[in-house]
Amino acid sequence: MDRLQIDGGPRLDGTVRISGAKNSALPILAATLLADSPVTIANLPHLHDITTMIEMLGCLGVEVVIDEKLAVEVHPETLLDVVAPYELVKTMRASFLVLGPLLSRHGRAEVSLPGGCAIGPRPVDLHLKGLAAMGAEIEVDGGYVKARSPGRLKGARILLDVVTVTGTEHLMMAAALADGVTVLENAAREPEVVDLAECLTGMGAVIRGAGTDTITIEGVERLGSTYHRVMPDRIETATYLIAGAATRGRVRAVATKPSLLDAVLTKLREAGAVITTGEDWVELDMEGRRAKAVSVRTAPYPGFPTDVQAQFLALNAVAEGSSRVTETIFENRFMHVQEINRMGAKVVLEGNSVAIVEGVERLKAAPVMATDLRASFSLVIAALAAEGQTVIDRIYHMDRGYECIEEKLAGLGAQVRRLP
Ligand code: EPZ
Repeated sequence: MDRLQIDGGPRLDGTVRISGAKNSALPILAATLLADSPVTIANLPHLHDITTMIEMLGCLGVEVVIDEKLAVEVHPETLLDVVAPYELVKTMRASFLVLGPLLSRHGRAEVSLPGGCAIGPRPVDLHLKGLAAMGAEIEVDGGYVKARSPGRLKGARILLDVVTVTGTEHLMMAAALADGVTVLENAAREPEVVDLAECLTGMGAVIRGAGTDTITIEGVERLGSTYHRVMPDRIETATYLIAGAATRGRVRAVATKPSLLDAVLTKLREAGAVITTGEDWVELDMEGRRAKAVSVRTAPYPGFPTDVQAQFLALNAVAEGSSRVTETIFENRFMHVQEINRMGAKVVLEGNSVAIVEGVERLKAAPVMATDLRASFSLVIAALAAEGQTVIDRIYHMDRGYECIEEKLAGLGAQVRRLP
């Protein structure tokens, strides 16, 4: 089981190239199943989760050709099966998103229910309610969702009780080939929803309002080929900027989109960072100063992203002053706290939604263990800002969501090694 060894202390100073967004690439790969001709997706990050989704397409009989620039050309016309097995769905929840496209394009699908994960039960009830509202016959049997639709799905007005990112994406995909107009109300406004809508539009879908809380999809008869370049990863961008802040250094993130990061950049400025931005780059410079503690509260976009909460808590752990970190989206997203406290941090949890952080001047290296994707990178940030050599275990969690971790960190001046 791979481990990451980090020698803390050096200020990060350098440039990091941001990869394509995992949480945009995953639904977009599922959306290719809606087309009746090849779809090319570029700027995919080379991550375990992406490989799993490509494996899922392969398992359905869909031919995937990877070109020399690592773009993938998906041939949905070669589809042979509509059953997505538990073995794959259990390892990567987003593979559940093939259900709607298979149902909408082929009239039936059998997809394993995704389990929960470390951060919470992660139900998909709103996905299924929305598909049923469009006329799907849904049966849950033996851990599998068996769905069929006698004719085309029917457009419907769907009010989502909770803002759900993949729920919004799932129903937008299914509605694209439905007969009639679908209106999604209380829809997620995340940029990844907008990126998916742009890809679907390129395939011939008629979608209005993506990025707002009301999305209207006029179903069409067929969807065809397109070339789509996945948007840059705003979470990865935020993660490396925060690592720069925690080490009192300077980090320039390029091939990214700073306009998607307003909530995070505002908090980093409050922490004392000098932030400059361009069209496709953003630079953070602490000018050698220690960060000031800043309280944050997660919320759906455009609020402070829950996927950046753990990383920002690590910054607050070495910042000057006390702060409150409030998690409003998931039930169990503070597992990094016990690990960071082993490094000398002073974090106290109030229930499962509030962490009170009293910043310390320096953390101390200690053996720690990653528990989930974003928590694992908060341990990297803590290790970079600690005295001594930290070894982080179970970093397979990180490999799911961060491409070329050691290379990118080393490029910023970090002393990092992957251990077997
Ligand atoms: C997406 O997960 C992201 N994953 C998550 O990123 C991210 O943390 C999350 O959105 C919130 O921004 C992908 O895009 C692949 P939700 P998703 O449905 O869609 C409740 C990462 O680190 N809910 O927006 O699964 C749910 O329990 C991952 O990259 C229902 O109750 O999250 C949660 O409390 C982690 N019923 C809230 O909604 C449903 O049917 C938001 O979840 C669906 C969701």
